[in-house]
Amino acid sequence: MHTFLVLNGPNLNTLGKRDPKVYGKVTLAQIEQRVRARAKELGVQVELCQSNQEGVLVDFLQANAPQAQGVIVNAGALTHYGLSLREALVDAKLPVVEVHLSNIHAREEWRNKSVVAPVAVGQISGLGWQGYLFALEFLARYAKEGSK
Ligand code: DQA
Repeated sequence: MHTFLVLNGPNLNTLGKRDPKVYGKVTLAQIEQRVRARAKELGVQVELCQSNQEGVLVDFLQANAPQAQGVIVNAGALTHYGLSLREALVDAKLPVVEVHLSNIHAREEWRNKSVVAPVAVGQISGLGWQGYLFALEFLARYAKEGSK
């Protein structure tokens, strides 16, 4: 069975309370539950990790990438400067889909640049919690068929 890693970075543990107009009212626990439910329907496995520390995300990738077929990552603010996370994503040698709840291109200028984007297959930005499910659907089919 194919396995996908789902990484969430700093402050995403406060979803639901955090700026709901920008990030929505859904909590991280609810997003993770929806991801798990969709994974079950797709017949794939997911391993989820949220951390406010970059090194914990790097450790998680190093430990789990060898058994996985793809990565979904919402790196939070690390998106914009997290180079050790970016390098761990490269070292994972897996297809990466970058997800953002908000549209990072329609917000402050410092959010427009992503250091993850150049090492990702693609980016889903601005579609709220559904972005995680679209990313999972893409990766599940990509792993099965081996091409976009
Ligand atoms: C975010 C966008 C980032 O700029 C921000 O730092 C976050 C959340 C998003 O999901 O829209 O923490 O990644």
